[in-house]
Amino acid sequence: MKIGVFDSGYGGLTILDEIRKVLPEYDYLYLGDNARAPYGTHSFEVIYSYTLQAVEYLFRQGCTIVILACNTASAKALRTIQQRDLPGRWRPGEGAAIKEIRNVLGVIRPTVEVVPSVTRTGHVGILATPATVSSESYIMELDKMSEGQTTKMVVSQQACPMWVPLIESGEHLNPGADWFIDKYLRALMAQDPLIDTIVLGCTHYPLLLPKIRKWLTSNRQGKEINVIAQGGLVAESLKDYLNRHPEYRTQLSKGGTCRYLTTENADRFAQSASLFLQAPVSAEQIIIDH
Ligand code: DGL
Repeated sequence: MKIGVFDSGYGGLTILDEIRKVLPEYDYLYLGDNARAPYGTHSFEVIYSYTLQAVEYLFRQGCTIVILACNTASAKALRTIQQRDLPGRWRPGEGAAIKEIRNVLGVIRPTVEVVPSVTRTGHVGILATPATVSSESYIMELDKMSEGQTTKMVVSQQACPMWVPLIESGEHLNPGADWFIDKYLRALMAQDPLIDTIVLGCTHYPLLLPKIRKWLTSNRQGKEINVIAQGGLVAESLKDYLNRHPEYRTQLSKGGTCRYLTTENADRFAQSASLFLQAPVSAEQIIIDH
């Protein structure tokens, strides 16, 4: 059995890369739904149904755990899939023909867990897709982190609807992208000048890190601003999960392989993914059955 890693497009590669550094021994199946990206401007119903189709596809391909390496899917679909879809279809003992156990894990919880230890001012900024921002998942999860503390964290959110399209079209490191980097970072910092920690709440955004860091260096006005990217956090959280759940760990095959699947053109995916991962990648185009 394999570990499935799913994203609307290329963003999940930033998570997969870190997971494979921490857990290189397992076999992985990456699925990018590039043909339907971006997800972050869609409604709940659409994001949920696309995500469920992808998760079911990965389970059919022999995955026992699927990581939603996508904040939008984690914010909009994870809970419903865990509560409504997993129990009926995939839990052990509930269907004679279905023996394997299956689970779906998200990226938001492992990310917010580190925020209190990083921020000094308690003022935190979230950059994410419009769907993740409107879900308020980060605000709710960070509120839970503040429970029992004397001071609550002050959280500001900024939607960045143009960042994912720039990355999906391979324009993200070109000079034209600077305009949109400035637009959203300026808007976030204008909401709360005390922000000292920015969470990249979309798995695509680490691909913009060189430009984000450059902007922060030129505009921080003497302040030190921490930027939290999710890959390493999700990787450590998965490692911990597998340590605590031998029923999953023992089912996983250990060939150290990774197959890349995309719903768009395979050559185009392979070319971009090789650039992002700085390693040769070959990909297969698939059709997700509905
Ligand atoms: N990478 C995804 C995320 O973390 C989604 C981007 C999109 O498709 O809008 O939110």
